[in-house]
Amino acid sequence: MTKVVAINGSPRMDQGNTSLILTPFLDGMREAGADVELFYTKKLKIRPCQGNWKCVFETPGECYQKDDMQMLHPKLLEADIWVFATPVYVSGMTGPLKNLIDRILIPLGLPETELVNGHSRHKMREGIKRGKVVLVSNSGYWEQDNFDLLIGQMKAVADHAEWKYTGSLIRPHGEVIKSMMKIPGAIDDIFNAAKEAGKQLVTNGEMLTETLDIVKRVLLPIDQYVGK
Ligand SMILES: Cc1cc2nc3c(=O)[nH]c(=O)nc-3n(C[C@H](O)[C@H](O)[C@H](O)COP(=O)(O)O)c2cc1C
Repeated sequence: MTKVVAINGSPRMDQGNTSLILTPFLDGMREAGADVELFYTKKLKIRPCQGNWKCVFETPGECYQKDDMQMLHPKLLEADIWVFATPVYVSGMTGPLKNLIDRILIPLGLPETELVNGHSRHKMREGIKRGKVVLVSNSGYWEQDNFDLLIGQMKAVADHAEWKYTGSLIRPHGEVIKSMMKIPGAIDDIFNAAKEAGKQLVTNGEMLTETLDIVKRVLLPIDQYVGK
């Protein structure tokens, strides 16, 4: 059975706009037979990496900080798919999600660096499962390019872990989702596409571009959005 660990980095948790896209996506994965666990960074006690490299040089794979990462790390290492969900915050992910990702990745590295696909990297330790990484995000601003840096960073996260980046569900002008949900049927296609993307990923191992394009489609013209 496909195991999925999803982390939602929005401080608004299940009341936020990120959750409006993440929920049908995870539902689709469950419908396709996946075992899905969802965590909120706001509920987890995970301190930032302290940068002393003990987890690489002294106690390989183990951080000296004792917090919720002891519970989460084994689940992440058993998973086939990591879903990182976040609103765009100052063109990137939320701080707690970045802290969490640092804490996942650094203990997985070997002390020495080597060239991996032409980049100097701490190669990952042997015996660590390799899976797939997906980003789910929404932004306040209108344009799709608000996600460029975040998507770039998520690809880099996958590269650092030697996992495979499989795509992003992005929802520009996410702040209008809730008001548009009051218009019957107006944006059902977006939620259906998010669910379909979840099914596709579990069933086929990838998501169709056409499906992801529906999730990010324009909801209203920019001149109706700005100034509101
Ligand atoms: C601290 C902060 C920084 C933000 N920075 C950006 C940004 O750089 N670009 C953008 O499009 N939206 C930005 N936003 C807007 C959020 O992405 C938007 O409100 C989103 O819908 C929130 O998702 P949520 O309800 O899941 O928390 C920012 C919001 C906050 C609170």
